[in-house]
Amino acid sequence: MSQRDSGLPGSDPNEGPLPSMRTMSDFAEQPPAPGIDITKPHVARIYDYFLGGKHNYAADREAAAQLLQVMPTVRTAARVNRRFLIEAVRWLAQEAGIRQFLDIGSGLPTQQNVHEVAQAIDPNAKVVYVDNDPLVRVHADALLATTPNTVVIEADLRDPEGLLNRPELRERLDFTKPIALLLVSIVHFIEDTAQALKVVKTLRDALPSGSYVVLSHGVHDESIADTLDEAVAIYRRSNTGVTPRTRDEIARFFEGCTMIGNGLSPMAEWSIRGPLVDHEENRIVSINELPEMRGFPLLCGVGRIER
Ligand SMILES: C[S@@+](CC[C@H](N)C(=O)[O-])C[C@H]1O[C@@H](n2cnc3c(N)ncnc32)[C@H](O)[C@@H]1O
Repeated sequence: MSQRDSGLPGSDPNEGPLPSMRTMSDFAEQPPAPGIDITKPHVARIYDYFLGGKHNYAADREAAAQLLQVMPTVRTAARVNRRFLIEAVRWLAQEAGIRQFLDIGSGLPTQQNVHEVAQAIDPNAKVVYVDNDPLVRVHADALLATTPNTVVIEADLRDPEGLLNRPELRERLDFTKPIALLLVSIVHFIEDTAQALKVVKTLRDALPSGSYVVLSHGVHDESIADTLDEAVAIYRRSNTGVTPRTRDEIARFFEGCTMIGNGLSPMAEWSIRGPLVDHEENRIVSINELPEMRGFPLLCGVGRIER
């Protein structure tokens, strides 16, 4: 079944009406800081809109509305993706003893940010956020004021060596101890597959044995190829293109890793602790909403680096 057939926009009781035409108040919106372009959609802000955030502008909401027309479940998908991230971080901190997190493509601040989840388990857990969207940096100051073990770096995933050499990162992370590398819903924004594989390998190789890779990625599914082409075309008009990849290609991002839980799985089925249950602390999406996400083209996985 194609995503287009999987439900009508607005059929989800959690979804509000579709944003469509720009309103007068949209046109009154001003850039939040000098140098922030709000005339073009940005993926960080489209995602923020799907999560119910406030850091988005008319151009972002318009792109989001177009995506919802093509893939009506994409808003729920954003929340299921976020659930994956939160569950993975909680497991890593609680069960695997991880105290260092390098979250690349961290996105705009939202509910249950990585540092909040990890530092609720150990206040000394270190979190380095990285994003290339300048708006993320704008919102970083408030975050940093309250969390000394957390830093936000404006940098690009496509330059992993440059990132690994950043003093702010080296000051926070000890590369002799395990680190969780979070690449959640970001690697598909590197359009060239050879480049994406090289970037992830460079980062993986920098981490000691016992570290983890947490990754979700859009899948190229031939049965919904037309839908995916339309979604890709919408992203091309944003600040970055997007490349869904085959399952085999995505599995290569975990080379040298032992997969944890039920391995590289469709987003609605991924589990790291056995049968899926709703957690009181993770209310971003209920497991009752997962069945409608069956077939959504996103794979999730957590792998432990073994050398
Ligand atoms: C869909 S959001 C995912 C946010 C978060 N990881 C999550 O899954 O909840 C993708 C994020 O990746 C960032 N991003 C995209 N391409 C990037 C790049 N080349 N370097 C750094 N960040 C990038 C975007 O700005 C955006 O904040």
